[in-house]
Amino acid sequence: MSSKTGIDQLRELEQRFDRELAAVVDHRSLEDIQARYLSRKAGLLTLQLQNLGKLPSSERAEFGRVANQVKTRIESALGLLQTTILEREKNEALVRETIDVTLPGVRRRTGHRHPLTIVWKEIEDIFIAMGYSIEEGPEVETTYYNFDALNTPPAHPARDPRDTFYISGDVVLRTHTSPVQIRTMEKMKPPVRIICPGKVFRRDAFDPTHSPMFHQVEGLLVDEGVTFSDMKGTLERFHKKFFGESTQTRLRPSFFPFTEPSAEVDITCVACGGTGCRNCKGTGWIEVMGCGMVHKSLFRNVGYDPAKYTGFAFGGGIERYAKLRYNVEDLQLYFQNDMRFLEQF
Ligand code: DAH
Repeated sequence: MSSKTGIDQLRELEQRFDRELAAVVDHRSLEDIQARYLSRKAGLLTLQLQNLGKLPSSERAEFGRVANQVKTRIESALGLLQTTILEREKNEALVRETIDVTLPGVRRRTGHRHPLTIVWKEIEDIFIAMGYSIEEGPEVETTYYNFDALNTPPAHPARDPRDTFYISGDVVLRTHTSPVQIRTMEKMKPPVRIICPGKVFRRDAFDPTHSPMFHQVEGLLVDEGVTFSDMKGTLERFHKKFFGESTQTRLRPSFFPFTEPSAEVDITCVACGGTGCRNCKGTGWIEVMGCGMVHKSLFRNVGYDPAKYTGFAFGGGIERYAKLRYNVEDLQLYFQNDMRFLEQF
């Protein structure tokens, strides 16, 4: 091959390159042309350069000079175009991906605890801090645990099927959390310090102050030498923790089959602090739970020695506490799952 032909081919290649370069529009076609001419194995220019060895030595210098010229031209043209294309594509991407930060965002909804759960957990925490543990019992309960073992005789009005959901003759939906007292004492020896929050069921129609299902929290403490004033002190401490340190507690004589003596627990009105308002019907007090010293017959039923042990128990409605905490009048709101209500907690 003569150097003339070789150099002509180089020049042709250069012209062809110029034509093809004019058609390069983006980084992809740029990479194509780069590979087509400069690829180390099969690039068109690379192949031409391999001809150098086949030339007579007299012509090599000239061919080499031209080849280098062409190579430098191709490389710098590609380099220049690369800078332009990358810059242009970056700017196009910036325009394409522009974010209008003034557009309103999409609010991400995060769940949170139901108001009753908030109150439930708070009650638990207060008693756990006083050394109590949490117990559970079945919601479907036998009449033995729900009534008999709690000293509630067969003829007691609470056992009426108009008030209690019967599953069968001796199986009911528990009407209170008190059966957990019996179940707990059956499985552990004193000292016992437990609370049991949970669902209870009564045959009431749904209205602003009634629900066929609601929640109670039961408490039980049994040991040697437990007194009525231990109970008063405990309930006072709890209510001060829950409603605030200025809250006063008073006990009013009452009756429950499973405690003797029994009392109702009142606290100073959360709305007026005890001076009397509409909320407390002018009395300054609000009833929150029932309590009393555990009846000896319960101890006998679970095999505790009534001569050795005494204890107190209490039970109150969780909805009542939530109602007082959040000033929510209508009980139904807690169970309707209306987001407009629930979102407020
Ligand atoms: N079980 C009662 C009720 O449902 C509440 C109660 C009263 C529980 C006195 C007690 C108690 O443990 O000592 O109305």
